Amino acid sequence: MWDERYNTDDYVYGTEPNDFLREQAALIGEAPKRVLCLADGEGRNGVYLAGLGHWVTSVDASSVGLRKAARLAEHKGVALTTLNADLTEHEFVPASFDAVVSIFCHVPAAGRPHLHRQVIRALKPGGVLILEAYTPEQVHRNTGGPDTRIAPPPPRSSTRRSPNWISSSAGSASAR
Ligand SMILES: C[S@@+](CC[C@H](N)C(=O)[O-])C[C@H]1O[C@@H](n2cnc3c(N)ncnc32)[C@H](O)[C@@H]1O
Repeated sequence: MWDERYNTDDYVYGTEPNDFLREQAALIGEAPKRVLCLADGEGRNGVYLAGLGHWVTSVDASSVGLRKAARLAEHKGVALTTLNADLTEHEFVPASFDAVVSIFCHVPAAGRPHLHRQVIRALKPGGVLILEAYTPEQVHRNTGGPDTRIAPPPPRSSTRRSPNWISSSAGSASAR
């Protein structure tokens, strides 16, 4: 589905970063930090963070989207690592990222527990999670976004690996 959607010369979500990410990006800390961008699609957010000097890995299930992300990075003259993977199955190296960025990363309910565990696993102690996602109320608005109910953010870990959650919810039509 996403490969088809991205199979156009236009950038479906544009090439400018998500507004909430732009507002919160300073929380990642002084560059360079290792940042994992979940479901980064055509790369607008990963490329933005790479432009701030971070070492960014953009992961997405769409190879078409990631090719466009790589093209955008080249166009902007920044380095971007892309990883074509299904987030409901992929396993990340433990404590390998200073920050995880999750902007409208919606996966089917059955895959969420795995993904949430992987976010905790991938983050270094004291790492930061920046998350924006639709709330369940979005389902009835008919304004876009997933048509299944959204699980709440993952629970805080009781271990020292607990990340710092920075989250926002969105109910508008566009993924700005
Ligand atoms: C609404 S788009 C958001 C793209 C990007 N975060 C942005 O804000 O421009 C959702 C993205 O999630 C990706 N996605 C959906 N399910 C996925 C999965 N199981 N594993 C990896 N990526 C997935 C899609 O390929 C798509 O790029």
